[in-house]
This record gives sequence, C-alpha cells and structure tokens, in this order.
Amino acid sequence: MTQLFKQKHVEYVQNLNSQISQDSYEYWLSEHLRLNGIYWGVVALATMDNLKALPENEVFDFVLSCWDSRSGGFGAFPRHDGHILSTLSAIQVLSIYNRLDDPKVVDKKPAIVKFIKELQLENGSFQGDRFGEVDTRFIYTAISALSILGELTEEMSRPAVDFILLCQNFDGGFGMVPGAESHAAQVFTCLATLAITGQLDRIKPEKTAAWLSDRQVEGGGLNGRPEKLPDSCYSWWVMSSLSILGKAHWVDFTGLISFILKCQDPNGGISDRADNETDVYHTCFALAGLSLIEMSQKSKEFGLVPIDPVYCMPTSVTRKFTNYTQQ
Ligand code: FPP
Ligand code: ZN
Repeated sequence: MTQLFKQKHVEYVQNLNSQISQDSYEYWLSEHLRLNGIYWGVVALATMDNLKALPENEVFDFVLSCWDSRSGGFGAFPRHDGHILSTLSAIQVLSIYNRLDDPKVVDKKPAIVKFIKELQLENGSFQGDRFGEVDTRFIYTAISALSILGELTEEMSRPAVDFILLCQNFDGGFGMVPGAESHAAQVFTCLATLAITGQLDRIKPEKTAAWLSDRQVEGGGLNGRPEKLPDSCYSWWVMSSLSILGKAHWVDFTGLISFILKCQDPNGGISDRADNETDVYHTCFALAGLSLIEMSQKSKEFGLVPIDPVYCMPTSVTRKFTNYTQQ
C-alpha cells in the first residue's frame, strides 16, 4: 500500500457515532472513553484538514454536557465524575474549534482550574481524579490543560518537573512513576511536560533519543517497549518524543510510512497492526505521527496539516498560546 485513503478515513470518523447503536453493549462499554474519543476523532479530522466533517455546534454542546459541576472538571460522558483525562480532551476540542472564549466556557473556567490544581500532590505529581491513581500521564495532562488555559504557574510546574525527572531511567527512557519500566508513551508525557515548562535542558537528549529510535523494528513500525510488537499509535508517541528532542530523523521514515499505510483499512480507519480491527485511537495517532514525518521531511506527500508534537493539536491552534522553546 502506498496511498493514504484520506477521504475514507474522514468518512470513518464521521460515521463512528452512527455505527454503534446506543443500546448496544459496545456503546456502554466504551462510555468511559467518549470524550477522549471525540478528541481523537477531531484531531484525526483536523490532521486531514477536514474539521468541518463533524457538526461543530453538536460537538460543542456534547463537550459542555460532560462538565461535572460537583468536581469542576469534565467527565467522559454526561453525569460522569470529572477526570483529568476527559478534562484535557474537552479543553483541546474547545481550543481546536476556537471556542475557549465562549461565555459558556469562560463561566466554568475558575472551577476547571481549581479542579486541576487540587489534583496536585505534595510530591509534585497529579492524580487523575480524587480517587488517587498517580501516573506521569496525569502530570502531562494537567500541565498541558493549564497551559492551554493560560493558567500554568511556576508554583505548580516546578514540583511537577522535579517528579518527572525522578521517573527517568538509566536507559534514558521514562516510566509511569519513579522506578517503573521505560515506556514510549510515558516518554512523550515526560518530554512534553519538560517542553511546556521550558525545562528540556535538564536532561541529556542523546540517550533518550537513542532509546526512542531503538523502538523501530523489522518492517519499519515502532513499538512502545523492547521486545513488544510494533503498533501504529507509537508512530505518535515515539515520533512526537523525537521531534521534541529535535531528533525525528533518527528513525527510518520510508520503513515507518510503509508500516503505517499497511495498518489502513481501505474502507476507512487505521488499526494497531495490519489486518486488525480499526479504531479511532489508532486512526488519530497514526495520522498525527504521519504528519510529524511529513514535517520532518518537509514533504507534502500526504497533504497533512502540521501537528504540534507537544500538544497533539494543529500548530495553527497551539501557535496562539505556546510559550515553550522547541529545540
Ligand atoms: C499507551 O496506551 C499510551 C499512554 C500510556 C499515554 C497516554 C497519554 C495520555 C492519555 C495523555 C494525553 C495525550 C495526548 C496526546 C493529548 P496503551 O498502552 O493503551 O496503547 P496500546 O495498547 O495501543 O499500546
Ligand atoms: Zn496502540
């Protein structure tokens, strides 16, 4: 396969909502992912320069209906408890549609910011919600959300960065918590946090970049950890990390492009590996990864929109609020 089935992928995202009947098992099973799912779909469409394929006002109303007035954060679905992951997804979608200044959003902003701030622990890390799980994902999510809202302070970022640095391993990678195994997606969350806070100079980029480029396996795809199978979503987690370090060219692009294109269903959607079931998560991150390759190669082969490796949103959106220095 040498072609990107762009129009088919646009239709795939457009049809996601109607594919699953609302009283089906899959629908209720995926309910906890709903707002994240909207974010993945919106980023996939934005990457293909086709944001108009979804009805903006319906998306806006759905996002706001997920706001949980008790916690101040957004839940994954209406009437769900607020969680940091769905809160970032909501802020990203609103930001992509340029609706953060809508009075209905501005009203909620103080409560949203309070919700995020109160999730920070003494050691600088963040919980996902008041139930207590800690993971570098949540630190990135909190720091990214606050920075998009223009509410990130040194008081919050300094201890968060100190915690992130404790999560770096001898191999150059980063794990979920101090001492946990290096994992490419956690490397992204840690490097992106360092980038947002302007603290990238606190690590040595070469060792981390070498660990990241070792993720490329036979067939051109990237895996998340040594000995694991390649997976198209790591085209994002690894390529974004390398792009943040200014070392995107440390992977073989021809091999990676070929791997990603083979993960496509010609009828629309992208899966983790060739011939597996497609899903919107892999569709989003495979396309966003492909955009980073295009940016690094300065090519227009697939005509994708440039994506910011730190925020995973179009650079045309992040240009309005970024204050980090890309290397
Ligand atoms: C791997 O998922 C991914 C992670 C552990 C990181 C996820 C990061 C976030 C949710 C933070 C927000 C990120 C962005 C870009 C806004 P997995 O192991 O479930 O994936 P897999 O099973 O397909 O390997
Ligand atoms: Zn995956």
